[in-house]
Amino acid sequence: MTVSSCYALSNHWDDARARLSSLEQWLDPATRDCLAARGVGPGWSCLEAGGGGGSVAMWLTEQVGDSGAVLATDMDTRFLEPLAGPNLEVRRHDLATESLPRERFDLAHCRLVLAHLPERGRALGEMVAAVRPGGWVVVEEMDFVSVAADPAHEHAGAFMRTMAAHDEVLQGHGMDLHYGRSLFSELRSCGLGEVTAQGHSRICSGATTAARTWQLTFDQLGAEMLEAGLARADFDVARRMCDEPEFSFLSQTVVAACGRRP
Ligand SMILES: C[S@@+](CC[C@H](N)C(=O)[O-])C[C@H]1O[C@@H](n2cnc3c(N)ncnc32)[C@H](O)[C@@H]1O
Repeated sequence: MTVSSCYALSNHWDDARARLSSLEQWLDPATRDCLAARGVGPGWSCLEAGGGGGSVAMWLTEQVGDSGAVLATDMDTRFLEPLAGPNLEVRRHDLATESLPRERFDLAHCRLVLAHLPERGRALGEMVAAVRPGGWVVVEEMDFVSVAADPAHEHAGAFMRTMAAHDEVLQGHGMDLHYGRSLFSELRSCGLGEVTAQGHSRICSGATTAARTWQLTFDQLGAEMLEAGLARADFDVARRMCDEPEFSFLSQTVVAACGRRP
């Protein structure tokens, strides 16, 4: 298998499980609402692409029941494999380079995967082709446009300089930091109908799941952020602020886009 080598936040990292769990706690409620609104239920066949820690795949297996099926893929399936069961198939699969089954699924979903891939257009095309006519494609991606520390906080500057280094490193790995805003038109250009897209952003304080996710992301990318020129003092302060309940910031915008195959 050809694996795209540019992904910056590998599941191989020591604390990857903790980082994925934080992400799941933070984002799963909105994801579940969005998928439930598409009507996912007993008997559906679903694809969870780039399934990571597997919480969405597991939730889907509960919705589709014994008469349905879920295929969860990832280029690194270490956290998915233990979850495999009668209605959950786990497959190692590189969305950037490999094909998916054609017209098989009632729902194809991915979250925080495509923006990382320079081949995101091709990957989205594969997801669309994997859905049967009448089936749904749901893509959730971030747009970092909204990230801002509370300007009144004495360490807002250090936090934002750390964010800028984070952005630079991810961009260097081929990530589109503003992919969220492109989803609406991307889904329409793939020929999907009934396209909608909604973003949500919220004020998060330190010592919350969202802040913990940021802290773990800083930890994973830290060496590269420092190499990119970030001052060690700024990095240390930003990390610390993620534990401080009195610190707050406006989060990135998570855009959920849905479209239906005619
Ligand atoms: C930020 S995590 C998100 C995990 C999960 N979708 C979630 O939202 O909880 C990104 C996931 O995409 C996977 N991934 C990255 N590049 C991939 C590729 N080319 N093909 C398949 N999976 C990929 C990673 O291994 C990781 O599990």
